[in-house]
Amino acid sequence: MEQVIKDLDILDNATAREESCGVKISAEGDRNAAKKLYIESYGCQMNFSDSEIVTSILKKEGFDTTSSFESADVILLNTCSIREKAELTVRKRLSQFNTVKKNNPDITIGVLGCMAERLKSKLLEEEKIVDLVVGPDAYRDLPNLVKKADEGEKGVNTFLSREETYADISPVRLNSNGVTAFISIMRGCDNMCSFCVVPFTRGRERSRDPYSIVQEAKDLYENGYREVTLLGQNVDSYKWSHQENNKARLEKQGINDIVNFANLLEMVAKVHPDLRIRFSTSHPKDITDEVLHTIKKYNNICKYIHLPAQSGNSRVLDLMNRTYDREWYMNRVDAIRDILGEECGISSDMIAGFCTETEEEHQDTLTLMDYVKYDFSYMFYYSERPGTLAEKKFEDDIPLDVKKKRLQEIINKQRDLSLERNQLDIGKTFKVLVEGYSKRSDKDLQGRNSANKVVVFQNKGIEKGTYVNVKVTDCSPATLFGEIVEA
Ligand code: SAH
Ligand code: SF4
Ligand code: F3S
Repeated sequence: MEQVIKDLDILDNATAREESCGVKISAEGDRNAAKKLYIESYGCQMNFSDSEIVTSILKKEGFDTTSSFESADVILLNTCSIREKAELTVRKRLSQFNTVKKNNPDITIGVLGCMAERLKSKLLEEEKIVDLVVGPDAYRDLPNLVKKADEGEKGVNTFLSREETYADISPVRLNSNGVTAFISIMRGCDNMCSFCVVPFTRGRERSRDPYSIVQEAKDLYENGYREVTLLGQNVDSYKWSHQENNKARLEKQGINDIVNFANLLEMVAKVHPDLRIRFSTSHPKDITDEVLHTIKKYNNICKYIHLPAQSGNSRVLDLMNRTYDREWYMNRVDAIRDILGEECGISSDMIAGFCTETEEEHQDTLTLMDYVKYDFSYMFYYSERPGTLAEKKFEDDIPLDVKKKRLQEIINKQRDLSLERNQLDIGKTFKVLVEGYSKRSDKDLQGRNSANKVVVFQNKGIEKGTYVNVKVTDCSPATLFGEIVEA
């Protein structure tokens, strides 16, 4: 799952996913009357997307958003538990907020998301550092819980649901460039990767009504957005049955009985040819040729697949409970190359130093990377998480310095591969969706091509949200540089 920032240079496991983001917009409204909400998000794109749902729920209750926590009545942190470092970052931030609270005891501080779910009332009762603890499936209860906190009671709801998808809630887009947006298509995860805390913090997998997804995409297109990213922990297992859910209403619109991920992609692709579709995350065990053929069929479905391998060694993959082996993974990559060609972008997540991993097994990760030639990867060293299968069954026996050394080798390998892949693009012309100024200077614009590569080119006054053709003239491991050309 990309957040623009790529962590090629980062040895420590702080990654884009652990970057935070405060709300940068202030909504209209009666500033004297409205209570002010400050919300900050950590973790994956699902969390960022959830913060948009939370903001929508609280805005309906009359809240106004603010970009400065000092002036907020309610401070919410939407948190991540994926690695220890992610939780430590949140704890540091909470202590900063608690300093503000000392001068202004009326402020309500709440923890949302995966840390809330993992630690539950511990944050309130034992640690006394927050007033509210709300898990990912309980956001509809927020207005009530905030009210309780105002009245001096502590508010906790960490109930995990089998049904909640927030399908009817129209997210308030935060930190938006007005061009690209996320749409959650499912929640939870039914896989049990042994290293992973997500099944415990996000609960059972459930898919959202496809009609509400298509409607959200249409609304975004009508509001000027030109790219949507469909989000789920394992999008390939998206499944909706009309038989069980509102068959009559949806049949009227001529939709198949069972909607799988390929069908959903097609439905969203038909919203408008100028609306690009991306999706994340694909699971190697579930990605089908049907999905790959659907991607091929529609020009507006981006030729880019985030296909986390985690390791290149079959024994380690088995211990990780990923339910595929090295050969299976390579077969899926071959299918991507056969159906979508060499230009299709492929990225991965890799974990260095999982329990009992030997030096030879680590080398298998490097050779898998060579085989696939990833365009980029998110790379981490293993961080044991309480309650996971790996914590219960295996010893976290790889010393930190070895984990870091292996991670550095993976990072170096990825840097070389990214450069190699980008160099192949020199001389080619790509259709790029303009997202705004380049990070370095407003003399340049930046956007991405279908394969998800960041392309930087001279600002000739083109509006963001426009498609331009850019001929690539140069590159770094993370960026393509080029100039606008006629189609
Ligand atoms: N659903 C996605 C991943 C979500 S978590 C998938 O299956 O690919 C994002 C990434 O964090 C994972 O792909 C994994 O590489 C990393 N990760 C998860 N748990 C971790 C842990 N305990 N230590 C280090 N990295 C971890
Ligand atoms: Fe975690 Fe595995 Fe689910 Fe991804 S598929 S969220 S790694 S359990
Ligand atoms: Fe983190 Fe939860 Fe996402 S643990 S990676 S915020 S699902």
